[in-house]
Order: sequence, then C-alpha cells, then structure tokens
Amino acid sequence: MRAAIVERYGPPEVLGIREVPTPEPGPEQVLVEIHASVVTPSDIAFRSGELWIARLFAGPFKPRLPILGDAFAGTIVRLGAGVTRFAVGDRVAGSTGPELAAHAEFAAVDQSGAIVKLADGVAFGAAAGLADGGLVALPFLRDQGRLQAGQHVLINGASGSIGTTAVQIARAMGAVVTGVTSTGNLELVRSLGADRVIDYTAEDFTAADAAYDVIFDTVGKSSFARCHDALKPDGVYLTPTPMLSPAMLRKSGRRARFAATGLRKPADKAKDLIQLFDWVQEGRLRTVIEREYALAEIAAAHARVETGHKVGSIVVNVS
Ligand SMILES: NC(=O)c1ccc[n+]([C@@H]2O[C@H](COP(=O)([O-])OP(=O)(O)OC[C@H]3O[C@@H](n4cnc5c(N)ncnc54)[C@H](OP(=O)(O)O)[C@@H]3O)[C@@H](O)[C@H]2O)c1
Repeated sequence: MRAAIVERYGPPEVLGIREVPTPEPGPEQVLVEIHASVVTPSDIAFRSGELWIARLFAGPFKPRLPILGDAFAGTIVRLGAGVTRFAVGDRVAGSTGPELAAHAEFAAVDQSGAIVKLADGVAFGAAAGLADGGLVALPFLRDQGRLQAGQHVLINGASGSIGTTAVQIARAMGAVVTGVTSTGNLELVRSLGADRVIDYTAEDFTAADAAYDVIFDTVGKSSFARCHDALKPDGVYLTPTPMLSPAMLRKSGRRARFAATGLRKPADKAKDLIQLFDWVQEGRLRTVIEREYALAEIAAAHARVETGHKVGSIVVNVS
C-alpha cells in the first residue's frame, strides 16, 4: 500500500510517499481502506520533533512511528476470524489512537476500538474531521468542564478543528457560547451557533470580569493566570495543551484542567463517536473543512497546518 512516511524529524519535505506492506488484520481486527484522514497540530509536532514533549512520545532521536495520522474514515475490506461487529463493505470512521498510521491506504483496527459505522450520506472527509475535533471537544466540555445548560462558555480558537466542534457541541449542550477568533473568521463562528463572537485582534477576552463558567482555550494561547478574573468564582479553565504550572491548578475556587484526550480508552471514544454522529444526523453538528489534499500533497497539507491558522479541518484524501 502507499503511505506517507516520516523517517527523520524535520520540515514538511521530510515526508515521502512510499510503498509499504499492507497491515494484516488480527483475529479481532478489521482492515479499513482509508478514504480520508486529517493532518493535525499533533502530526506537525511528531514530524518536526521541535517539542521535547512530542519526542518523549514519538522517539527522542528519530520518529518511532513512521506513519502519522489518527482520525480516519473509510470502508472495511477484510475481517479477522473473530470479528462479529462489522461486515465487509461497512462505511466506518474512528481514531487509530496512539499507534497512529492513518496516513496510509489501509489500517488494521480493533473491532472493539474507536470505530463506528457511518450513516449513508456522511462524507468521509467530514467524518474524519469530526473524529479529530469532536473527540477532543466533547470530553473536554462534558467531563473536564462539566458544562451545563444555561452556563456561559467561552471558546478561544473557535475557528480551529477543536474550536469549530466545541462551539457547536456547547450549543447542543444548551450553553450560551462566546467564540473568539480573528476578523476573517467571525462570520463562520457565528454561523456555527455562537451567541457572541470576539475578534482577538481588537479585544482581549481575558479582560472580562467574572463572565464565564467555562473558558476552553482550544489553542492554548492564554493561561489560567490570565483568564482567572474572567472566570466566575467557581469557573473552570480548560486547555488541551499541557500546562507548565501545576501550582496554578486551583486558585480562589477557580480551577484549571488539562487532559490528554487522545489517550482515552478506545471504547469511550467509540461511545463519543456515536453521540457526535447522532448530532450530525440531527443537523446540530457539521464539520468545517478548509481544504482537501491528495495523499501525494501531504507535505503541503503539513505546511498549511503548521501556520496555526487553518480553519476547521485539513483533510487528506487517501484513496
Ligand atoms: N490534549 C489533547 O489530547 C489534544 C488532542 C488534540 C489536539 N490537541 C492540541 O489542541 C490544539 C488545537 O488543535 P486544533 O486542531 O483545533 O488547532 P487548529 O485547528 O490548528 O487551530 C487553528 C485555529 O486557531 C486559531 N488561532 C490562532 N491563533 C489564535 C489566537 N491567538 N487566538 C485565538 N485563536 C487563534 C486560528 O484562527 P485565526 O486564523 O483566526 O487566528 C485557527 O482557525 C493543538 O495545540 C493540538 O496539539 C490536544
């Protein structure tokens, strides 16, 4: 099969398209022909090797996992002998998890893993994008933020992959949503259901006074210390980027939370995928896609994600 391979850390050009052996599904695995995946900031970190924390996971000197990519959507083409949950021809989406390997034509996935059947009419690119942003936004808002209907939530980075899904999920949960982005993306964020939008080039959202029950900085551009006064007295600050200051996790009733949502149990991710795709069917959630790239263009896709300004998802059409 063809796959995007990274054998050494470096700029997007280190990525090459190579022929590699197609994975053999184990007895409890399905072989998925991947139609779409996404390129994410995590892929950038694992390819560039610039962050020491990424090297802890991905290998200190050279990439341990040569094929990147986590979220996928595609069609099941083979079944392991013990597979009962899926059939050949099923359209599926999910997350390959810490072993990655979704930037390839095929992936072997556990039948009890983070994989669900897709309803007809859900496009593969949209499904892969949702399996990326949705599997971060939902556990953060529900489990870490314990967001309740009627509460006020601010989503910083509201035009990114996590942000565009977080705005819609927070709305689906009945919250009052403020989305923060730059001028060109304000209309998009409003169209996703934000009650209020803030242009970060013109206004500092952290200057608010006890306004929010939850602040979810999806892009880690602020800090708990800066957001402290904008939180209500029992408010919670959420960030998907690791915090360097654990001493600041609680201050005067306000709390800060980080979670590695990518490392959650596959079965929990599968349950969340069902919820996310239910919302899609109900018309309450859609995937924002900036652009779709062919697998052969993956270096260009990485270069775009690396800017930090993609809008929603960058999809890779694999086959
Ligand atoms: N903890 C975990 O398990 C976990 C899991 C997945 C991802 N992550 C992390 O989550 C982060 C977000 O991922 P993502 O895919 O959602 O990112 P993304 O899509 O690349 O975010 C891009 C968006 O961020 C916005 N942005 C850039 N600078 C901003 C600023 N100063 N203020 C507000 N918005 C700004 C951009 O809007 P403008 O162009 O308008 O500036 C753009 O639309 C990444 O750091 C990723 O590594 C963590």
